[in-house]
Amino acid sequence: MVGVKILGAGKFVPDIIATNDDFAKIVDTNDEWITTRTGIKKRHIANGEPTWYLGAMAAKAAVKNSGVEPEDIGLIIVTTITNDYSTPSISCIIQRELGVKGSMAIDVNCACSGFVYGFDMAKRYLQTDDNLKYALVVSAEELSKITDYTDRSTCVLFGDGAAAVVLEKCENSIYSAYLGADGTGAKFLLAKSYDSHTPFSNDEVKVEDDMPKRDNNCLYQDGRVVYKFATKTLPLACEKSCEMLGITPNDIDCIIPHQANKRIIETAAKNLSLPLERFFLNLEEYGNTSSASVPLALCDAIDTGAIKRGDKVCLVGFGAGLTYGSVIFEY
Ligand code: ACO
Repeated sequence: MVGVKILGAGKFVPDIIATNDDFAKIVDTNDEWITTRTGIKKRHIANGEPTWYLGAMAAKAAVKNSGVEPEDIGLIIVTTITNDYSTPSISCIIQRELGVKGSMAIDVNCACSGFVYGFDMAKRYLQTDDNLKYALVVSAEELSKITDYTDRSTCVLFGDGAAAVVLEKCENSIYSAYLGADGTGAKFLLAKSYDSHTPFSNDEVKVEDDMPKRDNNCLYQDGRVVYKFATKTLPLACEKSCEMLGITPNDIDCIIPHQANKRIIETAAKNLSLPLERFFLNLEEYGNTSSASVPLALCDAIDTGAIKRGDKVCLVGFGAGLTYGSVIFEY
C-alpha cells in the first residue's frame, strides 16, 4: 500500500502568553471554570505579526528538520481560516518566504479539520504525480483576529500558532483516510465574512438562510451542539479509518485529535474503550488553534518521543462546516 512519510516537522507560536488568570482580568471567569470545562491553561497570542509569518516560520523549521532543499518542494498546501488577505492566498506568501519557485500553492479552508484534509490531499498528489518529490503542508492560524474578547464563553478557548510537515511518498506502508462534511450544521459554528455594499444595491433582492445574524466578524458557536457533534464524530472518524485497514482503534499507537476541549477527548476515549494515555494532548499549552492544533500536537508528539518511527498514528479533526476527518499512517 502506498503511504506517506513525514521527513520533518516544525512549529512556531507567538511570544505573548495569556493564562486563565489573565482572562479573569478581562471577563467574568476563573482558572477553575476554564480548567475543569476545557483543560486549557494558556494560549499564545499574536502581537500584530501576520498569520503568514507564523506559517512561514513553522514551514522553515519543518524544511530545515527534513533536510530537503526548498527548491525540491513541488507542492505547498496551507490550511487556515484566518488568512491575512482575501487574495493572494497564504500559500503563495509562504512560498515566497521559503524562496521556493514554481511549486503549486493551494489554500484549504476546512476549519479545525484543515490539516487532516491537507495531509490527505498532499498524499494523493504525491501518489499520482511522479514528478512531485516533496510536499509541504502548513497550518497557520490567528484565532485572536476573530475572537470576541468580551464573550467569556468563547474567548477563553482560542489561541494562535502554526505547524508544518514535509512529506514524501512511501511505498509499502499503511494509509487510510476518512473525510467528510455536514453542511446542514454550518449554522452552529461560524465567523462572518464581508457584506456586499455597492452603488447598485437595493432592498429588493434578499436571500434568507438559517445562519445566525451576526453584527461582528468574530467566532460564534452553539457550544453544546458542537460538543455533541465532536464527541460523536471523533470516535466515529477514528473507527472508520481503522475499518478501512482492517484494524481496530486499539491497534493504533497514538491518536492525535483536534485539541478543542479535554472533556471531548476524554469522552471519545471512553467511547472507543481506550485509555486517555493513547491520545496525545497539548491543549493545556495552546488552547484551540483550529487547523494548527493537530500539527502542533503532532510536532510535540515527535519532539517528546510520544511517537516513534514505525508507530501507527491516527490524526483526527472536527470543526466548522461542519467538517471532520481522520487519517492513519505509519510514522
Ligand atoms: N467562565 C465562567 N463561566 C462561564 C464561562 C467562562 N469562561 N463561559 C460560560 N460560562 C457559564 C455560562 O454563562 C453558563 O452559565 P449559566 O448556567 O448561568 O447560564 C455556564 O457557564 C454553563 O455554560 P455552558 O455553555 O453550558 O458550558 P459548557 O459546560 O457547555 O461548556 C464549552 C462550554 C466549553 C464551550 C463547551 O460547550 C464546548 O467545549 N463546546 C465545544 C467547543 C468546541 O470544541 N469548539 C470547537 C470548534 S472551534 C473551531 O472550529 C474554530
